[in-house]
Amino acid sequence: MSYQLIDGKGIAAKIRLELKEEVDYLIQQGITPGLVVILVGNHPASESYVKGKIKASAEVGIDSQLIRLPAEITETELLARIVALNEDPSVDGILVQLPLPDHIDADRVIQTIDPKKDVDGFTPINMGNLVIGQEAFIPCTPAGIMELFKRYEIDVAGKHAVVIGRSNIVGKPISLLLQQANATVTMCHSRTRDLLKFTQQADIIIAAVGREHMLTSDYIKPGAVVIDVGINRNAEGKLVGDVKFDEVAPLTKAITPVPKGVGPMTIAMLMANTVLAAKRR
Ligand code: GUN
Repeated sequence: MSYQLIDGKGIAAKIRLELKEEVDYLIQQGITPGLVVILVGNHPASESYVKGKIKASAEVGIDSQLIRLPAEITETELLARIVALNEDPSVDGILVQLPLPDHIDADRVIQTIDPKKDVDGFTPINMGNLVIGQEAFIPCTPAGIMELFKRYEIDVAGKHAVVIGRSNIVGKPISLLLQQANATVTMCHSRTRDLLKFTQQADIIIAAVGREHMLTSDYIKPGAVVIDVGINRNAEGKLVGDVKFDEVAPLTKAITPVPKGVGPMTIAMLMANTVLAAKRR
């Protein structure tokens, strides 16, 4: 069966070009969107993600700044940095790259970010507004997945979507967005019994587990749409998804690869949220 390869990389590049036009216009109006990314310590994966965010900002015309802080920084010092950025009118978006070192309470850090500058959409105000369907910054990975559905004209209404993974960053928000788009959503997670029983009924699978190649062809109903959110490093150091792509892809209607699938969309949506924050200044 032939399947559609969902080109997240290509769509993300297109979105960056569209955003550049918007940013050029904003700059003409005297508003340069500003994004501050805070990296605490030097977690290797975080280094790579942050690099991508700064590079994309430059491409779009967003004035970005990377603040590197030592892993030993105290929580109090980090909170003080965030409070100062909340008060800085040239800063539209504040992103604290996760994970943070163990001695820092990540929830307290997130809750200190001004919700109007929370371009990750992680603060309780934005999360709460998402739950009740009010205007909110939507977390970037789930926003990117919904954008892929839109651009590929994949209608989720009435479909059975199975989300595997219940994280605050992906699983919970994508389940809400899918419900708002009239999908029927089943949430599965590490304690789900008989995962196969659920995925085999799914028209849409969102795999956000973080376990290399755990989704094999047995899990798939022929003709399903499969979105792979996993970013895992295999034994050879290569990036691999949660889905065993080679055996699953031929069964699907459409599927995202890893890399070049959801990952670039996450960054594109961060750019979109930052532009939105600047417009709301
Ligand atoms: N770590 C992994 N993904 C993300 C993300 O989307 N935002 C932040 N701030 N940290 C992350």
